[in-house]
Amino acid sequence: MNKFFLNLGKQPLANNFLTKFSPKQPTYNLKLYFNTKTKMVSISKRIPSSIMFNSKYPYRSSMSITMRNSFKKLSDEIKKRFNPNLLLEIGSNDGALIKNFDKNKVIGVEPCKNLAKITKKIDYKTFDKYWDFKLAKKIKREFKSVDVIYSANTITHISNLDNVFKSICHILAENGVVIIEDPSLLQCLKKNSYDQFYNEHIYLFSTLSVRNLLSKFSLEIFDIKNLKTHGGSLRYYIKRKKNKKIKISINLKKQINRELKAGLDNFSTYKNFTNRVTKSKQRILKILNNIKERNKKVIGYGATAKAVTVLNYCNINSDLIQNFTDTTPEKINRYMPGKNIKILQYKKNLLKNFDYVFLGAWNFKKEIVNKESKFIKKGLKFITHIPTPKILKLK
Ligand code: TMP
Repeated sequence: MNKFFLNLGKQPLANNFLTKFSPKQPTYNLKLYFNTKTKMVSISKRIPSSIMFNSKYPYRSSMSITMRNSFKKLSDEIKKRFNPNLLLEIGSNDGALIKNFDKNKVIGVEPCKNLAKITKKIDYKTFDKYWDFKLAKKIKREFKSVDVIYSANTITHISNLDNVFKSICHILAENGVVIIEDPSLLQCLKKNSYDQFYNEHIYLFSTLSVRNLLSKFSLEIFDIKNLKTHGGSLRYYIKRKKNKKIKISINLKKQINRELKAGLDNFSTYKNFTNRVTKSKQRILKILNNIKERNKKVIGYGATAKAVTVLNYCNINSDLIQNFTDTTPEKINRYMPGKNIKILQYKKNLLKNFDYVFLGAWNFKKEIVNKESKFIKKGLKFITHIPTPKILKLK
């Protein structure tokens, strides 16, 4: 049974960056639910994929050093551990992972045509289609089977998970491996990062919920890794149950125990989270209002989908955060969805016009703080809302 636990209010589509602010930008109600049977956490409203993932999708995996390094490290591990003849990536984005493999050994699937174009252009086999059974059948006809299927931050964006895994099973080699990674529900609860929720993140996975989901398809997790990416993610290594050649790692049991200890199987845990989120909103507003009273200026760093959730849930407008900055060309000179806050192109000296930075991309805190150390020495201060809103002591 789905039980409601948090209302994040009226939200626009998190990646709908308008060139001109409009108070009439469409919004939907962002409500979170916990399924007491399957242990899955999800949002209620499902926006059609074709609206969210289109030919103007602005998110690029290769935009940060952290993500580029993470994909390079993973590709080395996959080659060493599984040595696949053929790897398929669901949601290959701008090729951050597949570019680390030989062209004849990878297939990308990327429905956002602007992104698929990037890897097609450099001759990587890319299907600019949504991942579904029709596509899986087409790929099977051409390639027979796939040894490794990889997907990062994509599966949780797809409403029909049964279709996703039915399609995966259709083309996965008998001894094949599926590797998926997505933000971790446990980390989200620990960090009070309610901003992991936005229209694209339909689900927030835990090991408990993924295990339940996979069992319907005779698949099982055989290893698991905690990652720092996206504010704390889990990488699940999955195989067919009947494949006994691969042993189940102790890491799985450890993670399950961590999740049970934190009460992820229990509805009351989510109600407690709601209380912490309400406090987080009050605190960030207090900090920003205090800065406003002192006539100081704030810039948001990283025009992330996460920041969109924060701005719209807390009702933060340009009187509290004057601008955002981002390196992604598709976001520059546009407005933060739902808000009259303009995104400025990142330039070396931009930050000298501001007194405070609000970490929209708090998951890249280390990378950003390193990059901006010169300004920090001169007195620029950083604000984060993770795990609780505060001004960071960095000097
Ligand atoms: P993400 O948190 O959803 O991965 O998005 C990170 C966003 O932050 C992305 O739009 C790129 C932006 N960004 C910068 O503009 N400068 C930076 O130094 C970093 C690390 C990220």
